[in-house]
Amino acid sequence: MRLIDARRDQYRRLAKDQGYRARSAYKLLQLNSSYRILKKGSKVVDLGCAPGGWLQVATKEVGQAGKVVGIDLKPVEPVLGATVLEGSIEDPAMLEKIAGILDGGKADVVLSDLAPNVSGVWDVDHARQISLSTIALGFARQILRAGGSAVFKVFEGDMLNEFRAELKKSFGRVFLSKPSASRQESSELYIVCLDFKQ
Ligand SMILES: C[S@@+](CC[C@H](N)C(=O)[O-])C[C@H]1O[C@@H](n2cnc3c(N)ncnc32)[C@H](O)[C@@H]1O
Repeated sequence: MRLIDARRDQYRRLAKDQGYRARSAYKLLQLNSSYRILKKGSKVVDLGCAPGGWLQVATKEVGQAGKVVGIDLKPVEPVLGATVLEGSIEDPAMLEKIAGILDGGKADVVLSDLAPNVSGVWDVDHARQISLSTIALGFARQILRAGGSAVFKVFEGDMLNEFRAELKKSFGRVFLSKPSASRQESSELYIVCLDFKQ
């Protein structure tokens, strides 16, 4: 078995053993252990949350004093401690609904593991991913409290630097990260953003 297949298998097996719905849960666990994004009592918005792996991690990390709201185009099996909306992040009504669930308040953290339908054409997929992440950034700018944090999934490519420059306008610290649970042969990366400036 090739090393990358073995690693993919390892996370799939771990997810099954530990009751996570998706191996992607380990990406958030690894990002969180490096950057301490999720804290007890945090209010978290998870954009593109199906099937719910990140929701499971987030609800555990923020505990009962926290609040977790997810949104996805697809239905999601209920996750204890999370509220899930079915719809598109491109629908402005969703932003209002989420603000309502957060008691009209702001979020401490916005997570975006949003992924477009992949065409297999590298340039096209990169552009679609950046476009979705840009919409997620617009969402984050409206719902995050000052000092809050965000995570955005991106694919490597020529539009990445421009997107990072845009993030640096809104966040004091911006880090590019490749958690080991992310397939090494994939161009997927995560941008962790701290210290939101209003
Ligand atoms: C990689 S999956 C997320 C996996 C999730 N983090 C987990 O751990 O279970 C990406 C999700 O983004 C969702 N998505 C893509 N475009 C969207 C949009 N415009 N609005 C809401 N969700 C969207 C897809 O339906 C898909 O479920």
